[in-house]
Amino acid sequence: MKKVCVIGLGYIGLPTATVLADSGYGVVGVDTNAAVVARINQGKSHIDEANLAEKVARAIAEGRLRAGTLPEAADVFIIAVPTPFTAEKEADLAAVRSAAESLLPYLQKGNLVILESTVPPRTTLDLLVPILQKTGLEMGKELRVAFCPERVLPGKILEELIFNSRVVGGIDHASAFAAKELYASFVKGDIYLTDSTTAEMTKLMENTYRDVNIALANEFALIAEQSGVNVWEAIRFANNHPRVNIHQPGPGVGGHCIAVDPWFIVEQAGPLARLIRTAREINDGMPQYVVKRVQQLLSGVSSPRVAVLGMTYKANVADCRESPALEIICLLREKGLTVSVCDPLTQDAQVLPLEEALAGADLLLLLVGHNDFRSLDPAKVAQLLRRPVVFDTRGVLEREPWERSGFLLATLGEFFPVKKERSLNENTAAH
Ligand SMILES: NC(=O)c1ccc[n+]([C@@H]2O[C@H](COP(=O)([O-])OP(=O)(O)OC[C@H]3O[C@@H](n4cnc5c(N)ncnc54)[C@H](O)[C@@H]3O)[C@@H](O)[C@H]2O)c1
Repeated sequence: MKKVCVIGLGYIGLPTATVLADSGYGVVGVDTNAAVVARINQGKSHIDEANLAEKVARAIAEGRLRAGTLPEAADVFIIAVPTPFTAEKEADLAAVRSAAESLLPYLQKGNLVILESTVPPRTTLDLLVPILQKTGLEMGKELRVAFCPERVLPGKILEELIFNSRVVGGIDHASAFAAKELYASFVKGDIYLTDSTTAEMTKLMENTYRDVNIALANEFALIAEQSGVNVWEAIRFANNHPRVNIHQPGPGVGGHCIAVDPWFIVEQAGPLARLIRTAREINDGMPQYVVKRVQQLLSGVSSPRVAVLGMTYKANVADCRESPALEIICLLREKGLTVSVCDPLTQDAQVLPLEEALAGADLLLLLVGHNDFRSLDPAKVAQLLRRPVVFDTRGVLEREPWERSGFLLATLGEFFPVKKERSLNENTAAH
């Protein structure tokens, strides 16, 4: 196994390609996006990920990695292409299909094909294998095939690629062992062998567990608001219990995985996946809920302006895929509110510098707990806003300094000050 061809050079494929190059393989990265290929061949990374730019630059400079738009003959092929969902919440496997088809001219006896893209159970057996059979090679014997899910955390991808444990699912024992051999060359965590369908389901179960747990936290937040309980404190106390690990509530669930993968189970399991579907619906409903609260906080304000802080799907990453902030911004604009957005981690055209975004706003809406936002100085913010009102949907702002600076601080999952119109007006007058 000397040469590896990685198909799809995104958040997963590019870091994987560089780790393999560091481990002594000759790596060819393939992407249908010619701009991505050109950038990588210049020794640059199009993905904002810790230490990745340096690794790409070194691997390209030393000739251990190169990129192209077409696959070429290799010992191992790794498919890491996107698997989004359709408008009907069904897995869109078009990229997996076309990536697999693109390999056919290059596959030879003795090769190993690994699918890393997250897919519904049985995709390896029912979609990938039938395509690979067109080579005429005998599956398992002449062509090894495995599904090996990726479980890395954006922001720590390079570290987790090496130190996380891996689940390796072969279409037979020989395929599982061949894939294990590849991963064992750079993975320091445990490697568990199983069949491809169990590995596919394992990956979906991991993200579904987190989605359901977040939905529970969101439901607790809504109930806490009604009961006058601070949900953040209650969760902290509950999690002191040795067998409890409640996740954090928030304005919705985003990203490429947790907001998507549970639908792959729902699609297959239908009415059996009642809890999973409900959890998805609860999390998908959070942006609407946040918008309703914003409208309550702004009731009576003419031509209201909202300064949104945070656009990415979670704190301290640049990734905006499936971000609930995008939906909230859209919904607020649909309701006729003027919205300015600040997010120091994104290059989006609508993003403004902090002071510009805050200037003249009637409400600061915190949607992402970036470190830059946690350390905001309330006194400085007060000078910029038209009304001293903050809605913190991440529970990251400390109440005392904000209130000391004359703010009304509403926090998702705490007693919500909708009945405090009078004190809100008093605050405004004082300001
Ligand atoms: N991003 C994560 O943190 C993460 C974590 C675990 C699993 N995954 C899964 O890994 C898979 C890849 O995700 P990603 O985040 O790397 O996606 P991505 O969108 O960042 O990158 C995918 C790349 O594949 C390219 N591509 C698309 N079709 C292609 C084809 N037919 N041939 C060659 N290249 C093609 C695209 O141009 C793109 O550059 C998905 O199934 C995802 O669910 C992602």
